[in-house]
Order: sequence, then C-alpha cells, then structure tokens
Amino acid sequence: MKLHPLFIVSFFIVHCFIVHCSFFIVMPALDLALSQFQKSFHSSPQFIVRSPGRVNLLGEHVDYNDGWVLPVAIDRATYLAARKRDDDQLSIIAVDLDSHIQLPTSNFELPTWSRYPCGVAHVLREANLNVSGIDCAFSSDVPRGAGLSSSASVELAFAVAWQKLGEWSLSKMELAQLCQKAENEFVGVNCGIMDQFACAHGEIDHALLLDCRSLEWTPVPLPQGVAVVIADTTKRRELGKSEYNNRRAACEEASRLLGIKALRDISLEEFNKREHLLPPLIAKRARHVVEECDRTLMAVEALKRNDLESFGHAMNESHRTLRDLYEVSCMELDAMVSAAQSLEGCYGARLTGAGFGGCAVALVDASVAKDFEHELAKRYEKATGLKAEIYVCKASEGANILSDPSDPKGL
Ligand code: GLA
Repeated sequence: MKLHPLFIVSFFIVHCFIVHCSFFIVMPALDLALSQFQKSFHSSPQFIVRSPGRVNLLGEHVDYNDGWVLPVAIDRATYLAARKRDDDQLSIIAVDLDSHIQLPTSNFELPTWSRYPCGVAHVLREANLNVSGIDCAFSSDVPRGAGLSSSASVELAFAVAWQKLGEWSLSKMELAQLCQKAENEFVGVNCGIMDQFACAHGEIDHALLLDCRSLEWTPVPLPQGVAVVIADTTKRRELGKSEYNNRRAACEEASRLLGIKALRDISLEEFNKREHLLPPLIAKRARHVVEECDRTLMAVEALKRNDLESFGHAMNESHRTLRDLYEVSCMELDAMVSAAQSLEGCYGARLTGAGFGGCAVALVDASVAKDFEHELAKRYEKATGLKAEIYVCKASEGANILSDPSDPKGL
C-alpha cells in the first residue's frame, strides 16, 4: 500500500507536536514515585509517605547556637512509595537520579544520595528500633541544594516509612532528632535541628516557632492577606558543607571565649560590652547570631500583632548581617533580595537556609503577589542573566502517611 504524501506530512507534524509537548509535561513527584514502584516491583506499594521541605522566615544559623527559629513546612515534598520485604534487604530507587541500590548485596561503591536513607537506617538500628527490609521508590519536587531542606525531607520520609513498617512509635521530635543525627554522622554536615524539626512538625497555614534549646515550640498563624514567596536564584550551593561547619566552629569558639554555653546565652547589650574579647572574624560571626536571636523573638511578637512592617524590617536586617557579618550570601542571592526589597508590596526579604546559593524568601502583600513574582523574575534576570523560579508557597503538614494518595499535598 502506498501512503499519500499529505498523510505522511500530517503524520510527521502531529508526531513532532506530541514529542515536543510531552517533553514539557513534568510528571508530579508522587506519580513518579508510584509509577516507578509499580514498574520495578510489579505491585502497588503498601503506602506512600509525603515529607515536605521547609522555608525559614527568620532565625538563620542560630539553631546550633540554641537560638529561636521560625520555619514553615512548604507544599513541595518528597514522596516515598514503599512496601515491606520478607528478608532484610533494602531495595531503594531514587527516581529523580535514575539510581537503584540494593543492600546489603550491592558490591559497587554506593552513590552519595544513599547516605540519607542508609544513615537513617543506621541511627534507627542504633536506637534499637526495628528497620525492616523495604522495597521503595522516591521522588521529590523540593529542589536540591536550594536551601529548602531537600535532605531533611528525604530523611524524614524514610524514618516515617520504617516507623510504619516496624510498628513502633516515636514522637515527631524524636524522629527529627534521629534524622539530624543521621545527617551529622553520615552526610557530615554538622547541622542543627531546624530542618528535620520543620519537616516533621509542619502545620497548615502556620509558621513554627522553635526554641532550639528546650525544643519547646508553638505554631504561629500566618496572617491573612500575606504571601510567603520563595525565590530560587537557581544558583546551587557551593562549598556548603565545609563553610557551614566552619561557621559552626566559629560560634563554638566565641561561646568558649565568652564563657557561655551557647551564643543564645548572651544579650545584645552584654555582647556589645564584651565583643572586644573576641578575635575580629569570630566577633563578626557571633554578632550576627546574637542580633538574629534578639530580632527573631521581637519579630515573632510583631507577627502575632499583625505588624508586618516590623517583621519585614527584621527580615531585611537578617539578610544584611548574613551577608556582611556571617558572610553566607552570594552575588545571586544579594541581587534577588535587593530586587525583592525594592518592589511594591514587599514587607521584607532575605536569604533562607544555609546560604551560599539557593533561595530567598519574601513576605509580600497577597493582593500584589502575582505582579511581584513577575517583576522580580524580570529584574533578577536583568541583574544576573539567570532565570529564577519564583512561587507563592503554602504552609503544609509535616511528614506523614498519605491516607488518600490522590490528595498529595497534605493541605
Ligand atoms: C541548614 C541546616 C540548619 C540550619 C540552617 C541555617 O539548613 O541544616 O540546621 O543551621 O542551615 O539556619
């Protein structure tokens, strides 16, 4: 049979259209985890865990100084589809990285990402908790290396899955602490508790005020009419691990020289009097922490009485000391933050998370949020030549098992 040339041409056009379009269709992380699970393990999972990332509104680099932090669990998350195995094998697929490990039988060098689930398995076993064999696949829409706690969200997802499979029950704080231990010991980042805490405890429409010493926390309602905007510079973190650990060491040195347990134990007034006891670089680092502790507590009170101007001012000040004293910003973050601060409707903006690249966060009048997103992207691109990813985030629930996988957001 001879095909009509018109048929061939139209077939070609339709085919190109389909290929071109499907190229741009991104499958949601939940579907990716689920479909990969079904493909690899030829059955449906027993359950799916959703574990969010977080954005921190205020209290940066103070968690390991026993200070106060104000993170929000966001509507971007890791999804883990899992079922129990009869043996003790861990068969884990990282869908986004197209990588599959099988333990203990894998005899090749393990990929870096496997430190997160394997670290969690190890600390759970050390705590005498049953870590059963598992078949699982996970995928995440929390961008990696962007300061939104993609690692903590993976850690919590696995801790919650093993809790379910092992039929034991720890508090959310205990799970968070074990995941923090896994990150300290297996990933080598000497992080504080903030990220794992936020991923575990997230509450819809709330920020979470945590005292990192007593571990007491209270949900703080996000005011109506305000949008929390995440602005990803798309510049990924560099030298994060070593620089982060250096900052922590500098704070510990400052506490030692000041004769206090942690930097949260000195008031700003007292620090002003005794700062001269510290070498200049250590004094700079410590000043950021002392000021940040002070302003976080004041700003939370402002947020509670709906004083968004004062809260926004504290965010701007936080960025200033993170940039000039703690020196964890970079050109891209500074460009994003100053563009955001110059726009109408923006109460305040700052880098969020560890810094050295990643995201900024801005508090914006909800009625102008769309224009703000658009204008910010334009100004950032003009300043840096980079395309930003900017979106309004919603405060969501902490890590949990999805009761209804067709409602993936935990919202
Ligand atoms: C990282 C760490 C947290 C915290 C922040 C900075 O996200 O994991 O523990 O120290 O940096 O506030």
